[in-house]
Amino acid sequence: MAKIIYRTADGFDHVRDVAIDTSVMRGAVDTGVPGINAECGGSAACATCQVQLDDAWVARVPPARDLEDSMLDEEDQARNIRLSCQIIVTPELDGLLVHIPSA
Ligand code: FES
Repeated sequence: MAKIIYRTADGFDHVRDVAIDTSVMRGAVDTGVPGINAECGGSAACATCQVQLDDAWVARVPPARDLEDSMLDEEDQARNIRLSCQIIVTPELDGLLVHIPSA
């Protein structure tokens, strides 16, 4: 397990223990974290699972691969927006803080 912190737009931290090798999206959806809709179920086709990496974690999260990259525009990339379904939880991500956009 790794602890993932999902901070919603109201500033509340939803702290979850997420199994290794599952996605950050799945860790949120399966435990009722609000604001991550994940309409496509994790196939990088809907972008309704977006999160913003906290500045402290940008360099520690593996970069987006081509499929994810194609779903993010330049503005998203500049703001460190990621598809949470494409971020796989590893022990190195224990303590990861992601911000969930308000809309
Ligand atoms: S769940 Fe659809 S892109 Fe992540």
